[in-house]
Amino acid sequence: MLRCVPDASPVHLLLQWFDPRADLLPWRATRDRYAVLVAETQLQATPVRRVVPYFREWMRRWPAASDLAAADVGDVLAAWHGLGYPRRARRLHEAARWISRHGWPDDDRLTDLPGVGRYTADAIRCFADEADVIPRDTNVNRVLARRFPGGWPGTPPGEEWAAGQALMDLGRLWCTARDPACERGCPLRPGCPAADAGTVREVTPPRRRQGRYEGSMRQRRGVMMGALARDGRIALDRDPEAGRSLVDDGLAGVRGQWLVRAGADGG
Ligand code: ADE
Repeated sequence: MLRCVPDASPVHLLLQWFDPRADLLPWRATRDRYAVLVAETQLQATPVRRVVPYFREWMRRWPAASDLAAADVGDVLAAWHGLGYPRRARRLHEAARWISRHGWPDDDRLTDLPGVGRYTADAIRCFADEADVIPRDTNVNRVLARRFPGGWPGTPPGEEWAAGQALMDLGRLWCTARDPACERGCPLRPGCPAADAGTVREVTPPRRRQGRYEGSMRQRRGVMMGALARDGRIALDRDPEAGRSLVDDGLAGVRGQWLVRAGADGG
């Protein structure tokens, strides 16, 4: 309750509101860098609820970077099927191989890892190392733009992990792009500059528009990847264009007339 809080700054309100046990997201139970890398890679373009069972199964099957590094890339891609954007899986596999061979890079060189950009590097620092870094994905950027237009005021020592997770949850659950719940109980509503000014919707960093999925190349590639995950092969002439683009991306191979799992083409 607001009046019980000795310091009612928005950062304290946020931390007071955040309850890591309220939403039992499995990646919140770990501070392992590899687990955070897996979770954040899966979460990059896939909603939280969909990721949860995939993350659990992934960590059961490949609990350490060395386990993933030793796995067959075709199996890795098959396990990814359903999360979408399979290039992420391929890069994650490459990152695991890199880590397995060289160890983790220095803290300021995490972006040297395949597939690891600024956001994922910051997420590893915050969510695994509990470092004072705010990982900025779309949700967090939106919360910061609306509620903290003057910049993040700083995190109280020892709350770095919680602050990062709390910003994610606030953006995902309350401060949403399309239906912000300012007047329906948003815990950071008091003193929110954007809500006070009535500009919440304007202060929304633009989303990258995705084209239609139905009939798209993404869908056609997904159909082929699904067949590879299920059956290990599919006739190339079912969709030669989609098949070729998967081969070009290293996500599948060719054996005779068949599209086969990457690594299973003998090449
Ligand atoms: N989206 C991206 N990373 C997340 C996390 N760690 N928790 C909840 N949602 C997320």
